[in-house]
Amino acid sequence: MPDIAPHAPRAPGAPASADAAHIAAIVAARQHMPGALLPILHEIQDTQGFIPDTAVPVIAGALNLSRAEVHGVITFYHHFRQQPAGRHVVQVCRAEACQAVGAEALAEHAQRALGCGFHETSADGQVTLEPVYCLGQCACGPAVMVGEQLHGYVDAARFDALVRALRPSSNPSTAATAAEAEAQA
Ligand code: FES
Repeated sequence: MPDIAPHAPRAPGAPASADAAHIAAIVAARQHMPGALLPILHEIQDTQGFIPDTAVPVIAGALNLSRAEVHGVITFYHHFRQQPAGRHVVQVCRAEACQAVGAEALAEHAQRALGCGFHETSADGQVTLEPVYCLGQCACGPAVMVGEQLHGYVDAARFDALVRALRPSSNPSTAATAAEAEAQA
C-alpha cells in the first residue's frame, strides 16, 4: 500500500473540520491501486471522522468516476458517515440473529432514549447512534458497540446505564465508568 504522511485519527470530541490537504494526499497516494475507492473512503473517515461532501469531487476526478457513483458508494455502506460524529459513537446491531432476540425493540428504545434517529447525534452532541449489521457477537445478542467496546445481552436498562456512563456528570464522584455500568445493569 502506498505511504502517505501520517495523520492522527480525530480524537473524540475534537473539532471535525475536514482537512482538504490531507484528503487530497490520501486520494493521490491510492488512486492508482486496484479497487481504490473503498480504501480511500476508509482512510478519509478514519482520519477525518467523516467523509465531507467536498471530498466527493476530489475522489471522482482522481478515479474517473462520476460524483453520483462516489456518493452512491458512500451512502450504500452504513459504515460511512457524511456528518461529524458526536463525542461517542454507539452502534446497535440490527442484523438477523440480534433481531431474533429483541434488537428491534432495543433500537426503538435507543432512539427514544437519545432523542435522535440512527445516523444522528443526540442534542447535547455526546452520542451518535449508528446501526451495524453483525458485530460477531451473534450468540450474545442484542449486541451493542460503545466506542471500541463490545457489549452483549443488552436490554433497555443496560443500554441506559451504558449511555449514562458516557455523559459527563455534574458530580464527578458519582460518575459511573462503563465497567461499573455493566455491573449495575
Ligand atoms: S447478528 Fe448481531 S452480532 Fe451478529
